[in-house]
Amino acid sequence: MCGIVGYIGDREAFPILIKGLQRLEYRGYDSAGVALISDASELQIYKKKGKVSELMAATTSQNRSGRIGIGHTRWATHGEPNDINSHPHSSQNKNLVIIHNGIIENYAALKSGLSKRGHTFISDTDTEVLIHLIEDIKEHEGLKLGHAVQAALRQVVGAYAIVVMDKEDPETLVAAKKGSPMVIGIGSTGDFFIASDASPIVEYTKNVVYLEDEQVAVLRKGKALKIRNLKDKEITPYVQKLTIELEAIEKGGYDHFMLKEIYEQPRSIKDSMRGRLIADEAKVQLGGIVDYEAHFKQAKRIIIIGCGTSWHAGLVGEYLFEELARIPVEVEYASEFRYRNPILFSDDIVIAVSQSGETADTLAAIELAKQKGAKIIGICNVVGSSIARASHAGSYTHAGPEIGVASTKAFTAQVTVLTLMALHIARLKAGISDSRYRQMLYEMETIPAKVEAVLKTSPSIKDIASTYKDVKNALYLGRGITFPVALEGALKLKEISYIHAEGYPAAEMKHGPIALIDEDMPVVVIATKGANYEKVLSNIQEVKARKGKIIAVVTEGDTEVKSMADHCIEIPETDEYLSPLLSVIPLQLLSYEIAVMRGCNVDQPRNLAKSVTVE
Ligand code: F6R
Repeated sequence: MCGIVGYIGDREAFPILIKGLQRLEYRGYDSAGVALISDASELQIYKKKGKVSELMAATTSQNRSGRIGIGHTRWATHGEPNDINSHPHSSQNKNLVIIHNGIIENYAALKSGLSKRGHTFISDTDTEVLIHLIEDIKEHEGLKLGHAVQAALRQVVGAYAIVVMDKEDPETLVAAKKGSPMVIGIGSTGDFFIASDASPIVEYTKNVVYLEDEQVAVLRKGKALKIRNLKDKEITPYVQKLTIELEAIEKGGYDHFMLKEIYEQPRSIKDSMRGRLIADEAKVQLGGIVDYEAHFKQAKRIIIIGCGTSWHAGLVGEYLFEELARIPVEVEYASEFRYRNPILFSDDIVIAVSQSGETADTLAAIELAKQKGAKIIGICNVVGSSIARASHAGSYTHAGPEIGVASTKAFTAQVTVLTLMALHIARLKAGISDSRYRQMLYEMETIPAKVEAVLKTSPSIKDIASTYKDVKNALYLGRGITFPVALEGALKLKEISYIHAEGYPAAEMKHGPIALIDEDMPVVVIATKGANYEKVLSNIQEVKARKGKIIAVVTEGDTEVKSMADHCIEIPETDEYLSPLLSVIPLQLLSYEIAVMRGCNVDQPRNLAKSVTVE
C-alpha cells in the first residue's frame, strides 16, 4: 500500500511525479503529496488529503519547478488521513524529506528516544520518526545521506520502501527497501526514476533495477547507480528489461480499469495458457515447476494460501487438485496460517496465490512454511514480485497489469493456472484417465471464446443491476466448485458497491442465512449443470418459498431454473470443473454495473488498496 515515486534528472519533475502517482493511486488514495527542490535550491512541499487530482488542482498557482522530486499517495496506517499526516515528511531542520511505504514497527521507541534529544513531531506518523532519526544520525555522526540512511535503517524494525531527499544536496536521491517493493528506472540521459512498481516508469525507460530487501541505492544525476546493503557491502545493480507496454496500464477507451479488465479476460486467460496447454499433443507444460514435479508426485498434502480473491481462487484449486490429482488440499487464509503455528511436513507443498506478489500476510506465511521445510510454489501475476522471488518455484499468471482495485482478470488467470497445474500433476500421478485428461485440455482451449460469449450477456446484466441497485443485502449461493465463485461474487459486490453480501454453500443456507430471506432479498445462485444441479434446484425452491428474488447463473438452454428464477443469465456449457472461469464473469459484471449505478468509485473503492503490504 502507498505508492511512491521519485525523479532526478534534467526534466521537470512535477509532471513525471504526478503522472506516476496517478498510475500508483490504486495502491492508496487517502492523500497525496510531492516535494521538489527548485534550481534555486528551494524546497517546496505540497501535500493534501484526498486524491492526486485534488493535489494538482490545489497547486496550480504554485511554483512547481524542479528537476528532482519525490511523490507519495497514501493508504493510512499510523494517523488518520489528513494534510499533516500526508507524505512527504520533513526532518527537524526541514532539510531532509522522506516518502515511505510500509510500517516502522518500533517507531514508538525510536520516537521517545528522539524526543529526549529535542526532536519535536507534528504528525502522528511512523514515517516522520524515521526522517528525524536519519537526520539525527547524519548530524551527530557527520555522515553523508546514504550512510545516514543505512545507519538509521539498521535500527528499524518493520517494512519500508523509502526515498529521501536533502535540500543541501539537490543532486542526490537515496532509496531503500525492505518488505515493500521498489523499482529504479535508469533513463538514457543520466536521469533516474523510482516507483513502487514499473507502471510510472515504463513510459520513460525499459531498463530497471528491482531493489532487494535491505539495499540502499544512491542515485546521483549523470552518475552510475550505487547500491549497498545495510552491512555496507557494495552490490552490483542487476539491470532488467521491462516487458510491460504502456497500453497495458491505460484505460483504452473503457470508463474504468475494472471494466477493461473484465473485458480483457478472453485474452488474459489465453495468455495464462499460452505455451502451457498443448491439447493436440495431450500435454501441459509448466516450465516453472519442472524441478518440483517429483515433490508434487510425493506430496501427501497441498496447502494453498492467499488472501481475498486469491484465497477464493485457492478454494477453486482445492476442488481441482482433489478431484483431478487426488491429493488432499487445505486452503488457508495466509493471515491465519502465519500465526497459528501450523503443522507442516517436508513433503508438504504450499501453493501461494497472489496477484500483486506483495501481500504482507502471504509473504510472511511463505517464510514460515519455508522455515518448517515445506516447498513453496508461487502463483503470482506481477513478475519479479516479492512472493515470486520468495517461492522455490512457480508459474506466473501472465494476466497483465491489473489496476482496478477489485480483482477480476487476476482471479480467472489464477484459476486457469491452478487448473493447468492440477491437470499436469494428475497426469504425472496417473490419477486421471487419458480420455478425461484429453477432453479437459480440449475444453480448456474453448474457454476464452466462451468467456467472450458470456461478456455478451452484459445488457441483460445491466437490467438486473438497475432492479437491485438499491438493496441493502444480497446472498450468493453455490455448491461444490461453484461455492468459491459465490464467495467471490459476494466480495465483488461488497467491495465496490458497499452493499452487504454473503457467499454461502447453497445447502448451508438453511442453517442460518435463510432467516434473512424475504421479498427484498436478492439471492444470486450459480445453478449451472453439474453433479449438484438437482440439489441446487431444491435450494432455489427454498428461497422462492420465502419470496426471495432469484438471480440465477445457468447453463445455456436450461429451462428448469428459468421456470423458477426471477432472472437468468446463461453461460455456455462446459466441464463442471472449468465452469468457475465462466460463472464468475456475470458476477463481476453485476457488481460493476450496480456500483456504477450507485455512483461509487469503482476503481478506487473506499478504504481499500490494491496491494496490501501491511499485515
Ligand atoms: C479483491 C481483492 C483482494 C485481493 C487480496 C490479495 O477484489 O483484490 O481481496 O485479492 O488483497 O491480494 P493479492 O492477490 O495481490 O495477494
